[in-house]
Amino acid sequence: MIAPSILSADFAHLAREAAAVTGADWLHVDVMDAHFVPNLTLGLPVVKSLLKATDIPLDCHLMIDDPDRWAIGYAEAGAYNVTVHVEAAADPVQLAKNLRAAGSKAGLSIKPGTPLEPYVEVLKHYDTLLVMSVEPGFGGQSFMAEVLDKVRTARRLVDTGHLKLVVEIDGGINADTIAAAAEAGVDCFVAGSAVYDAEDPGRALEALRALAAA
Ligand code: DX5
Ligand code: ZN
Repeated sequence: MIAPSILSADFAHLAREAAAVTGADWLHVDVMDAHFVPNLTLGLPVVKSLLKATDIPLDCHLMIDDPDRWAIGYAEAGAYNVTVHVEAAADPVQLAKNLRAAGSKAGLSIKPGTPLEPYVEVLKHYDTLLVMSVEPGFGGQSFMAEVLDKVRTARRLVDTGHLKLVVEIDGGINADTIAAAAEAGVDCFVAGSAVYDAEDPGRALEALRALAAA
């Protein structure tokens, strides 16, 4: 699966930017609060408008403090998947239960320096694991190949039946890096600048899909 990130899109024309990637499996929406990360993007009002503007399932990546309080609103609004950061969540198990009860999938994200092992039990309550392959906050950064060890571990836990997760990767995914991520066992690839900085985002997306499947 490919999830274009609108972080690299034109925020003044989000409906049009979503329509440019109709082949997308999910549309990745980066919510940043200028506290958990040093950048500020958009929040629930924009997500609500986007939900009306596109049929692509929204994959909301919340890079915010206190997700225990704020994430539920995105699930209630109709986001398909709501991902919170384990570094920010006070009670990630309860949070996952709340998200699912509100009708969305529950996602857990880990920053590049955060290990996976301590959270294996917690991940039993989640539907997606978002492995960050850059420090969260900005698009267009370089891929950190060292996080692929965590992808391999997650893949093994899924393939052996210990976890039931979509393994997603976010940061620096482009034509040069996607094959290595696919080989490590990623199911869903977030791509911001590689899609939206391209002349034809729809075509860039399909090119990435072909490389991931090769
Ligand atoms: C970064 C965001 C990413 C970002 C990826 O903190 O979580 O989703 O859009 O951008 P690229 O694909 O350009 O690295
Ligand atoms: Zn993201």
